[in-house]
Amino acid sequence: MKLKSPLYVVWETTLDCNARCIHCYSDACFGHGPDYWSLEEGLELIDQIADAGVLILALSGGELLMRPDWDKLVEHAVDRGLRVTFATNGILVTPDVARRIRELGVFNVSVSLDGASSETHEAIRKVPRIFEKACEAARNLVAAGVRVTINYTPMRPNIHEAPAMIKLAHSLGAEKINLTEYVYTTRGGVDLMPRPEELGDLMEFWTKAGQDWAGKIEVDWHDCRVALLLPEEEADPYKGCGAGYTHCRVTVDHDVTPCVVLPVPAGNLREMSFREIWESAPELHKIRSRDNITSGNCAACEFKSRCGGCRAAAYAWYDDAYAGDPTCWIKPEMDKALKYQESLAT
Ligand SMILES: C[S@@+](CC[C@H](N)C(=O)[O-])C[C@H]1O[C@@H](n2cnc3c(N)ncnc32)[C@H](O)[C@@H]1O
Ligand code: SF4
Ligand code: SF4
Repeated sequence: MKLKSPLYVVWETTLDCNARCIHCYSDACFGHGPDYWSLEEGLELIDQIADAGVLILALSGGELLMRPDWDKLVEHAVDRGLRVTFATNGILVTPDVARRIRELGVFNVSVSLDGASSETHEAIRKVPRIFEKACEAARNLVAAGVRVTINYTPMRPNIHEAPAMIKLAHSLGAEKINLTEYVYTTRGGVDLMPRPEELGDLMEFWTKAGQDWAGKIEVDWHDCRVALLLPEEEADPYKGCGAGYTHCRVTVDHDVTPCVVLPVPAGNLREMSFREIWESAPELHKIRSRDNITSGNCAACEFKSRCGGCRAAAYAWYDDAYAGDPTCWIKPEMDKALKYQESLAT
């Protein structure tokens, strides 16, 4: 299947944030204001994305709600026919804000929870009472009639809470819990990374939990290998990693990159339109073909066409988006990757 435009674009609207999470790939923090994208530039970007035929616009950051004009961006995107979603740490989602989100027609809000207990979540997110606030945000959104997803990124400090996370998400009234693979990049270190065998066990548990919780809450994931755990007819139709193919990111610097956690610029929107970059950028063409994966476990893997490995993980560990994926539990090469990292440090 060939896509003329990405299914979804993740747009980093700001790097301003009222939390300081230890794993944050965007290195967001308080005071990194919204001047990266003026309102006018933002509205123009939304037009370009809508004109290119994109279905879903995921507004991200930083924390979108730190922008005083967040609702103007949402309103325009909805008016342009885009399905709008966004992720939040929940701190600013009061009942009034939740009702405004509903009024504006946001399709889904993802509330990030990195633990099923306040101790775990606060140790990662570094804000007192952020666990209570995130839970309250989810309840406020559900009460206002907004579809809620809980975002969970399993790392060494919180991987053991996976079963409790599903129960918590269900008790908050979320329609879905989504697991996203941790990518060691920017602020988060190697020490946060679970071992591949732990991730393999987790994904087996997670796919089974999907069946156990069917009809109560959707248990979803974002991991290129999961298609391999499912029967062919249930496997992801886009076959593994969709970086630069099903999706891309627009950064605060106006760069287009293939994925939120893959900081390789394909083109800059100050020089070219979104459509031009999507259609002609050599980096995007390169990443769409798995023949370009030339080293490591993925290069010779029989599952290359159904999976392709996480290109962002390859880049984070080896500085090469076309190398092997050290986080793979099917064809492990974590020890090799750790040795490579050690060699850089000496
Ligand atoms: C960058 S945040 C922006 C939106 C909002 N501030 C929030 O925390 O939900 C979007 C999502 O990315 C996740 N995330 C941050 N750093 C990550 C990393 N290194 N690997 C994988 N996911 C990460 C966060 O946990 C959050 O669910
Ligand atoms: S993950 Fe979200 S809440 Fe945490 S620092 Fe990054 S942008 Fe802020
Ligand atoms: S080696 Fe690469 S392509 Fe093969 S299963 Fe692992 S991540 Fe996927």
